[in-house]
Amino acid sequence: MVRCNCGTWILIFLVISPTIFHKSMSELDPRWVAKKRRMSHKVRKIMAVFLPFRFYHAYDNYMTYAFPHDELKPLAKTFTDSLVELGNLKLEHLPQEYHGSALTLVESLSSLVIMGNNTEFERAVLWLSENLTFDVDARINLFECNIRVLGGLVSAHILATDSTNRLVQRNYKNQLLILAEDLGRRFLPAFDTPTGLPYAWINLKYGVMENETTETSTSGCGSLILEMGALSRLAGDPSFESAALRALRKLWSMRSSLNLLGTTLDVETGEWIEYSSGIGAGVDSFYEYLMKAHILFGRDEFWRMFQPAYLAVQKYFRHGAWCKYLYLLFDDSFLVGRNYIFTTEGHPLPVVSAWHERLPETYIPSNWTSVKSKQKAKRASAMSLQVCPATTLKSGHGGQQVESACHILDVRNDHRCLSDEDCGVEASTCRQRSCSIAGYCGRWSFQ
Ligand SMILES: *[C@@H]1O[C@H](CO)[C@@H](O)[C@H](O)[C@H]1NC(C)=O
Ligand SMILES: *[C@@H]1O[C@H](CO)[C@@H](O)[C@H](O)[C@H]1NC(C)=O
Ligand SMILES: *[C@@H]1O[C@H](CO)[C@@H](O)[C@H](O)[C@H]1NC(C)=O
Ligand SMILES: *[C@@H]1O[C@H](CO)[C@@H](O)[C@H](O)[C@H]1NC(C)=O
Repeated sequence: MVRCNCGTWILIFLVISPTIFHKSMSELDPRWVAKKRRMSHKVRKIMAVFLPFRFYHAYDNYMTYAFPHDELKPLAKTFTDSLVELGNLKLEHLPQEYHGSALTLVESLSSLVIMGNNTEFERAVLWLSENLTFDVDARINLFECNIRVLGGLVSAHILATDSTNRLVQRNYKNQLLILAEDLGRRFLPAFDTPTGLPYAWINLKYGVMENETTETSTSGCGSLILEMGALSRLAGDPSFESAALRALRKLWSMRSSLNLLGTTLDVETGEWIEYSSGIGAGVDSFYEYLMKAHILFGRDEFWRMFQPAYLAVQKYFRHGAWCKYLYLLFDDSFLVGRNYIFTTEGHPLPVVSAWHERLPETYIPSNWTSVKSKQKAKRASAMSLQVCPATTLKSGHGGQQVESACHILDVRNDHRCLSDEDCGVEASTCRQRSCSIAGYCGRWSFQ
């Protein structure tokens, strides 16, 4: 689902640098280490000056005007209990007795740790452990609650128990994990369908409501594995991961012979409702989570889903700007020596070998390639090389697409290619298309 918060995206973009396992890389390439140090320094400067100002401006005003409700309404200086509103366009079934779950505080936990504000983090953890309850009559959207609340709690728990980040640990007794497990258990009845595909909506206290809609989205079934998988590993209870994996496998089995998926489906019958395929709202995080799950859990099964799905997208949809999620893969600048993936909501989860079946090949530093942008060479991982097409260049015609005399068709109708010579010239930018390593013509940025 597309949640555009462009200010945040720009900030997140600034702190992302493609990176790889620190140790193996440093053994291999001292230049990289130096570059990384400079980069870290730059990132830290941004972190130290720019981010805190923006963060505390929002955080302090939330705490003043909205806490413990869910979100701040900044103009009215009041609050909204948005957990029950998220995804609920018609605002149906809004409960009378719901007064918020301190949603913004939960979502801010990992940011507080990243900013090094352990005092405030501990204060928040103590408040939540004493005052947060999920035993509330609230019909919530499973996808939204998963990425925001479960993801926030799981990520913050990992950061709180990480011995390297100097948290005062004496007050931390796994309270966030206990809350996460309680929430995860309340999710499980949603998966109790003939197909294993979860209902989009569930009441935290009463489970699936009578006459609940059986319609859900591809993202709603396919973007649960990171949070629920992480919860299972931490809590030592496989039921969360199994439920998410079963749903994901069922969803994948519903793909067309072209390896494309529809947009919405029925969880009782396992049939598509909206057959049209896309990479926008309702689908995007499905692709995102396949690849991130492959990185986080090192399991080939996820790559075996991601790759054909991604190739089908390259083949049947002409490319668009959908790389924003895929860029959000790694950042180890705030906790050196670790790699993190970010969930779709920006919560970091560490990539640890203990969770891994096997290291993906694309992690091997020697597989990294230097790529040329206009002026300077940039490093990109083989992973981003495989997945990120160029974002279309704006041609400066006030947004109008100009028909162009320069357009040259690709040699083959199916846009497959062996080399750049097989690819023609794009109409809108008059630029030569090139052949991606997956063998498709396009305006790829990394060649
Ligand atoms: C931590 O956050 C609180 C609340 O915004 C603030 O008052 C305090 O100054 C922060 N501490 C540090 C070290 O930034
Ligand atoms: C829990 O909430 C109550 C009421 O707002 C407050 O008095 C109490 O201090 C909170 N607990 C913690 C640990 O902050
Ligand atoms: C559920 O649907 C049935 C049949 O349409 C209806 O009789 C019943 O009142 C509905 N229940 C609720 C709680 O809306
Ligand atoms: C790079 O990755 C590919 C698979 O993506 C693998 O076949 C190849 O052996 C790797 N090359 C090196 C030098 O590690």
